[in-house]
Amino acid sequence: MISKTTIDNVFETARVEEVIGDFVQLKRSGSNLKGLSPFTDERSPSFMVSPVKQIWKDFSSGKGGNVVAFLMEHEHFNYPEAIKYLAKKYGIEIEETQQSDEQKEQANERESMYLVSEYANEFFQKRMHETDEGQAIGLSYFKERGFTSETIKKFDLGYSPDDWEVFTKAALEDGYKLEFLEKTGLTIVKENKRFDRFKGRVMFPIHSMSGRVLGFGGRILSNTKKAAKYLNSPESDIYHKSKVLYGIYYAKQAIAKEDNCYLVEGYTDVIQFHQSGIENTVSSSGTALTPEQIRLINRLTKNITVLFDGDAAGTRASLRGIDLILEQGMNVKVCPFPEGEDPDSFARANSEDELREFLEENSYDFITYKASLLMDEAKNDPVKKAGLIRDMVNSISKIPDNIQREVYLQECSRIMDINEDVLYATLAQIENKDAKSSGKPQKKKMEVVKEEAAPKVKIDPLYELERKIISLLVLYGREEGEFHDMLLKQNDQGEMIYESEIQEAKVFEKIFLDLQEDEIEFTNEDFKKLFLLLIEKLNSEDEFGVEMIINDIEESQAMKLTDILMEEEQYELHDWDRHDIPVKTKDQGISQYVTQTILSLRRHLVGKKINELLEEMKEVESESDRTDKIQEIMSYTSLSTIISDRLGRVM
Ligand code: CTP
Ligand code: MN
Repeated sequence: MISKTTIDNVFETARVEEVIGDFVQLKRSGSNLKGLSPFTDERSPSFMVSPVKQIWKDFSSGKGGNVVAFLMEHEHFNYPEAIKYLAKKYGIEIEETQQSDEQKEQANERESMYLVSEYANEFFQKRMHETDEGQAIGLSYFKERGFTSETIKKFDLGYSPDDWEVFTKAALEDGYKLEFLEKTGLTIVKENKRFDRFKGRVMFPIHSMSGRVLGFGGRILSNTKKAAKYLNSPESDIYHKSKVLYGIYYAKQAIAKEDNCYLVEGYTDVIQFHQSGIENTVSSSGTALTPEQIRLINRLTKNITVLFDGDAAGTRASLRGIDLILEQGMNVKVCPFPEGEDPDSFARANSEDELREFLEENSYDFITYKASLLMDEAKNDPVKKAGLIRDMVNSISKIPDNIQREVYLQECSRIMDINEDVLYATLAQIENKDAKSSGKPQKKKMEVVKEEAAPKVKIDPLYELERKIISLLVLYGREEGEFHDMLLKQNDQGEMIYESEIQEAKVFEKIFLDLQEDEIEFTNEDFKKLFLLLIEKLNSEDEFGVEMIINDIEESQAMKLTDILMEEEQYELHDWDRHDIPVKTKDQGISQYVTQTILSLRRHLVGKKINELLEEMKEVESESDRTDKIQEIMSYTSLSTIISDRLGRVM
């Protein structure tokens, strides 16, 4: 684990505008900086960075947060990766904590393996560009394949000399240990002899999501030899074949931006696609896609398009692996290439526009594609047809979403001209069997859920009110105000009446005490946590500033806080008036606004309670319970009237 001191140090040093400036062109705009959103394609800038608050907000995608959140969104780093990136940028040494000696050794070992791989990466490139052999054999091979110099550089392509141990010798001379050369598989050690694994091959380094070299693929140059066409680094502590996707480092941004990922088979397909301008492309390097690889993509998009060669065997094999993708709840399309072509050859032979058009026109929804394909095969063969129904429904059963499964069953019934009931029955059968064999409880029986499409922007008044409270605390927490309060008093006649009284208090005290009095709890978990944290900080003697808490809270909370802070910069977007949510106007005193917000929240909660009681009343059996309920409702209704009355007076 990275120590707290290091993390604090990183946050103190890193400037959000500098870090983002490496990725987005920013221009001054008042006290803020503005630029084009790196997350969407837009023409007028709606991406904003506040150097003062050390946060950013992208109004077109709604994303926002602190410097780490930016790196996580933009570079798809996880938290430690983001911290490490910043530490590197600002020359901060990383201190690790809570590591046992064994863990330390392991970490050191992995680090050594990374270093040796990086060294090899440089070595192979140098040898290709700077030696005669490299240029004549390696470089010319890539050029012949149609790769430009730019592409060759971008993908760090290289050449491993045709000699048994040049690489190993060079590495040892430069101080790298044989142990790590062997552990990464770059060197093969046999009976005290050492061999370069990739001797005489052109090299494709394989990068992690964050750009570190994990391993290599090496392609043989002659096709006469019996040796394997491609040789890959063996599994190691840093290279887990099932967890990497070739090209992911170069593709991640495009995948997120295009909200789709093209999956191809090999190294050259990926490179050729990137060169053609289709950068949202990765490959599983010749093996079937694994669940880990799918999860990698899932972090970036829910949509995947599998591209495969046009021959029949290839098609069958590709289709089989796809059920795994469905299982992860992703939307899958397939795009078969013409007989004899693969994505590499097709991209080479066509212009970017032609390629894009081809992809557009030949990408089919997986389920419907499979159904039509199998249908063609089984047209006049009833036995085959029975088998294919099972096959089809099997795929559909993998889809986690009920509604989606429903839609697909109907679609299949249409394509294959089979009664829907037969398909439903088959599905039930398959699910039963699955449940039995996995010992898991049976999936809930599929229900037809017909929902009206919800209106796109739905304002949840409770959410907005809770948010308003948080925003009051953040923006005006320590301001003093005079609050007109209504206190319940007994008058001379002994009746309970409300009497107006003026109290002086700080905004946060007023809010805290009022909510406390009514035992109001936030329903939104993030707001609840933020509320407690803010009250605690505001109540302490220390200086208060948002930048002091934004780095210590969970991401979802930081997002909400950023939204609130950046909202000042933005026009009021929502039509809150109509939803009982007070809108602040400039000439309104802050204390009035606070009171108004608290009252609105109370009225909303009381209204909610009344509705609940009305619901409960429907279930009540006995007459006396009924009377109780009615009385309860009555008392809440009168409370609601009082609050409304007061709200009216405030507003
Ligand atoms: N592959 C592999 N080992 C092999 C053969 C293939 O790892 N012995 C992987 C490689 O990632 C390769 C992919 O499977 O890119 C697809 O294989 P293939 O279609 O045979 O290679 P191409 O990518 O078409 O390679 P090339 O065009 O260079 O022949
Ligand atoms: Mn090929």
